[in-house]
Amino acid sequence: GLASRAYTHEVPSEYSSRTPPYAKLIQNLDSVRKILGNQQKLTLAEKILYSHLCNPEESLANANGSVSNIRGLEYLKLNPDRVAMQDASAQMALLQFMTCGMASTAVPASIHCDHLIVGKDGADKDLTKSIATNKEVFDFLQSCGEKYGIQFWGPGSGIIHQIVLENFSVPGLMMLGTDSHTPNAGGLGAIAIGVGGADAVDALTGTPWELKAPKILGVKLTGKLNGWSSPKDVITHLAGLLTVRGGTGYIVEYFGEGVETLSCTGMATICNMGAEIGATTSTFPYQEAHKRYLIQTNRAPIAEAVENVNKEFGFLKADEGAEYDQVIEINLSQLEPSVNGPFTPDLSTPISKLGKTAEEQGWPLNVSAGLIGSCTNSSYQDMSRAVSIIKQAEEAGLKPKIPFFVTPGSEQIRATIERDGLIDTFENNGAIVLANACGPCIGQWDRTDVDKKSTETNAIFTSFNRNFRARNDGNRNTMNFLTSPDMVTAMIYSGDMNFNPITDSIVKEDGSLFKFQPPVGDELPSSGFIKGREEFYPESNPQPKPEVEVNVSSESDRLQLLEPFQPWNGEELSTNVLLKVEGKCTTDHISAAGTWLKYKGHLENISYNTLIGAVNKETGEVNKAYDLNGDQYGIPELMMKWKEEQRPWVVVAEHNYGEGSAREHAALSPRFLGGSVILVKSFARIHETNLKKQGILPLTFADEADYDKILSGDLLTTKNLAEMIANYGNDGTITVQVTKKDGSTFDIITKHTMSKDQIEFFKAGSAINYIGNLKKQ
Ligand code: F3S
Repeated sequence: GLASRAYTHEVPSEYSSRTPPYAKLIQNLDSVRKILGNQQKLTLAEKILYSHLCNPEESLANANGSVSNIRGLEYLKLNPDRVAMQDASAQMALLQFMTCGMASTAVPASIHCDHLIVGKDGADKDLTKSIATNKEVFDFLQSCGEKYGIQFWGPGSGIIHQIVLENFSVPGLMMLGTDSHTPNAGGLGAIAIGVGGADAVDALTGTPWELKAPKILGVKLTGKLNGWSSPKDVITHLAGLLTVRGGTGYIVEYFGEGVETLSCTGMATICNMGAEIGATTSTFPYQEAHKRYLIQTNRAPIAEAVENVNKEFGFLKADEGAEYDQVIEINLSQLEPSVNGPFTPDLSTPISKLGKTAEEQGWPLNVSAGLIGSCTNSSYQDMSRAVSIIKQAEEAGLKPKIPFFVTPGSEQIRATIERDGLIDTFENNGAIVLANACGPCIGQWDRTDVDKKSTETNAIFTSFNRNFRARNDGNRNTMNFLTSPDMVTAMIYSGDMNFNPITDSIVKEDGSLFKFQPPVGDELPSSGFIKGREEFYPESNPQPKPEVEVNVSSESDRLQLLEPFQPWNGEELSTNVLLKVEGKCTTDHISAAGTWLKYKGHLENISYNTLIGAVNKETGEVNKAYDLNGDQYGIPELMMKWKEEQRPWVVVAEHNYGEGSAREHAALSPRFLGGSVILVKSFARIHETNLKKQGILPLTFADEADYDKILSGDLLTTKNLAEMIANYGNDGTITVQVTKKDGSTFDIITKHTMSKDQIEFFKAGSAINYIGNLKKQ
């Protein structure tokens, strides 16, 4: 029946780079169904992912007719359709891409300048200042865009995820983004995954990208949101149920009749914050709301293609009877607004209990500021609902009690709400409208009302997605409570944690009582979107211009071209132990963030943060290592010295080394400073993969007790590495000879998990070198 037909619908050429390759995907899905057997039902997430497999036979070899045999177990090799990068992470992604020597990217890609823009005095002043401070970085990104044909969205154009939703996300698309809230695009039915720069380079170069076949968490929505409840409350409530780790290894897939009642942008909010429960990504089945959004964002021909592929092939929803690994049901009709925080996004309190909980927990009872917008919540619907609250207050003669900031997600949103008078309402009621950028959401909030160093706690209400300490204003004592824009907006008129706008009234100056009515808003602007200022828009189909020079000054302290790492010389590795680390060693210990982030594009400068948080097992000191003659150094300083002496080194450590994040500098910096082996009791998986990608050999002790037998200065020499590599793998062990300072020797057994591809990375010196070699062939 369905299987043998081909998809033939075509879109006008100017839309083709923004339409998923449906014909190919349907054909691929056909092969997948043949391999799995036609009785196998697939979830939506699996349909999208598996139709992007580069070689279904290979990835599904161990399925034996059932997806449950591979979920959480096998690795998928995928061909994403698109890549999006934000300004902070794009630097290292592009520096790595450049070393491959390709003339253009293998898939369409975009760069978005949003993270480096400060919020303080309002859009115009802030933007001018931020462009001046970051000029060098923006110029670099722009020249990369021109050279390789990557769309460049400059500072002020908007936040990456909002622009992706407005322009690039489409049901059935698979994309990678170098930002953890990339899953926002799932609101428009895509599978969109947040990754590090080296992973983005896989997609940019057309190299298969690996992902462990996810487990699927089904969230069934019933009922309909009403009153004060909004899409944000779906995800803040879910985060409370699942905790920050509950989604790890899962894709969250929404279904049920409640989905039909949501707006596209509301679904995006829900997917956005799926990152807060650790999910790989989240997605929604195709809806009428998606069609409306695609048409309103000037993509009618794409909407038609989507409609077609879904009608003919049922591609954009789960198969009837598809099985989820876990199902959670949420009744939208009964959902109460939640407020999540402080300091963790999964501490969820229903608004009706907030005041009491705050008293019990000793949280501040006054709220000091309200902020709405960001990539999470800056849709037309969000803004118009907020304005409906402000207008009620204005009519009642109320004035905001606390500072109030609005961050539009894009120039299109900003211009449209300006045309429709929303900006005027905001500004006439004391709000500061910030630039279309991340601003206060990522610590770029030059806050004036509370001092950064203040030791007193203060509470803010935001419609953002993250609330780790110091994330917004650099102050560790600011408690960020995450909630819907509606709750934030109502709160600015009360400033009191005990205020529940659903049930409580505000006492006016004349002593009378005022009670808000539930907010109302428009899903989409009734007169359509307008683009706004032309200067914020890139060329729509940029072609690569090989003649463009990417200028990186050798004087720069923020950018540095990458030198390819040396390939393996074919010999056994002989390395000295530079440091034996004690206890927990996360990516924060290995590659500290904070002020170091300024150097993300300058590998040498940022590498002076390497392992500065690590504890020396032998001395108990932090950031201290000892040279062979006993001289004391800071850890990165000794690494640099040994690099200059051409003395390769190994770091020895304990369990779950590299836990925390995918931060690629945690692998790049040790490699840059001459590290060749990391030998530990166990690794966090993503960090282990990152080390392999950068050409470092990650080994674990077969017998943990051997950790105690090794001291800094010992010489560790592999005995059968060359043989393992020549055979592209072995039984998973490498014998290592330990030579103590007194010359005595003994052997220990270590384990490796190098796959064939990863052995190629090691031989070439890094994954990027390997890819580059392939492209040059
Ligand atoms: Fe930017 Fe905050 Fe989103 S930093 S991308 S607005 S999570």
